Amino acid sequence: MDTKRLAGEYAVDFIKEGMTIGLGTGSTVYWTIQKLGELVREGLSIRGVPTSKQTEQLAKELQIPLVSLSEVDELDLTIDGADEISDDLQLTKGGGGALLREKLVATASKQLIIVADESKLVSHLGQFPLPVEVVPFAAEHTAQRICTLVGCTTTLRLQNNKPYITDNGNFIVDCAFPEFIANPIETHQFLKTLTGVVETGLFINMAHIVVIGKSNGVKKLISQNK
Ligand code: 5RP
Repeated sequence: MDTKRLAGEYAVDFIKEGMTIGLGTGSTVYWTIQKLGELVREGLSIRGVPTSKQTEQLAKELQIPLVSLSEVDELDLTIDGADEISDDLQLTKGGGGALLREKLVATASKQLIIVADESKLVSHLGQFPLPVEVVPFAAEHTAQRICTLVGCTTTLRLQNNKPYITDNGNFIVDCAFPEFIANPIETHQFLKTLTGVVETGLFINMAHIVVIGKSNGVKKLISQNK
């Protein structure tokens, strides 16, 4: 079986009757949402909070009841994918451009469960370019300042030769590091001080459990920071 599917479908085991669930974005959590749709059809009562318009659309097609983040105080858990997962379960996210809503929903959740295949496990974060969401106004200037002050190569993400626009109306700057991100916490904190930066794709001390799909089954990693 597809290892993303294995991880994605496994994660529905964490979902219980009556829960409010953050629904992540991407091709791995797609399988979680599909399976959740089946359970809802069979009578499971839950509410989902989508992390992107893409996920909202998918959940609606599957008739999963949805609420917006503004309508809930706290979520029981969020299930989402990741672009990179380090040994201590720090993450980079935002390959699909949904990092800001993903972080807002995960922050409001008691638990964040990450689903991924083995290719996402890395010794150091930053081998995959780090997505940073920036305001569109003078985005080139913000990208240049990130490049100079952080020491990475910055590329404005494009779609059809135009800047990629997030669900929040912002742009994404992808930051490629020479080797890796030496200090993810400091990098995240510094980026957040720069005018024009809205959010970074570094998810520090946020994941509780990581479910990895492997060719011979599923491996569960539990955070020691939580
Ligand atoms: C979207 C994300 C995704 O969770 C991340 O890109 C992983 O996606 P996939 O499961 O398709 O590999 O952060 O913004």
